Amino acid sequence: MSERRPYVAANWKMHKTISETGDFLGELHSGLPRLPADGPEVVICPPFLSLAVATEFCDESTVKVAAQNMHEAGSGAFTGEISAPMLVEIGVDAVILGHSERRQYFGETDQALAAKVAAALEAGLEPILCVGETQAQREAGETDSVLEEQLTADLSGIPFSRIHELVIAYEPIWAIGTGLTATPEQAQETISDIRNVINRLGGDGDRTRIIYGGSVKPGNAAELLGQEDVDGALIGGASLEVESLIAIVRAAS
Ligand code: PGA
Repeated sequence: MSERRPYVAANWKMHKTISETGDFLGELHSGLPRLPADGPEVVICPPFLSLAVATEFCDESTVKVAAQNMHEAGSGAFTGEISAPMLVEIGVDAVILGHSERRQYFGETDQALAAKVAAALEAGLEPILCVGETQAQREAGETDSVLEEQLTADLSGIPFSRIHELVIAYEPIWAIGTGLTATPEQAQETISDIRNVINRLGGDGDRTRIIYGGSVKPGNAAELLGQEDVDGALIGGASLEVESLIAIVRAAS
């Protein structure tokens, strides 16, 4: 039996205003079943502006709050950026780092990510580090090498003894927002490979939580999350409706 507690994170991306966030969390708190202490951790990742209202709403509950990005410096002349200490001050618990949309559209580099992972841990935030391959890379049989490169670079700023403090999100880029989902076998096999990479880097692959992301929905969650090595889900589109998020949390229970 694995000691890894399931982890279900709702990545809202650039969706929901402050008032919509409040409405959603009100409904979530009344609809979410009482989860056992070893049940899934539920994490809401709203846009920056909604983080403060989300942490207030979640203060009395077990639901955690994560940002979708942060800058690696504590403060400085970085117009438009947000630092880890700023997130911690308002009660944020975790931060998504290296989402493929940030790598693809905003020039997020592995070098910056190595610094971001270290800065997040230093500040007491739980990093949710995203890695994943493109369709072309999968078809060329490069999935394992791409993931190994990303993990080696992104984890290079922290001691290997701390790798298990992260949550790793395996998100095949071809499955994000496309309706295409990795098969449960593909998710299982790739996540098991990621555990081996973590072991090779000197970390504890068995202790590290590794979740799957990419078109997770109520209809496919149970099968994906039922795989031995799949510890939970990072959910985009299907996390925007309370009912479907709750259905996925139930599937993870
Ligand atoms: P999706 O997004 O569930 O809409 O595919 C997942 C993600 O990008 O984290």
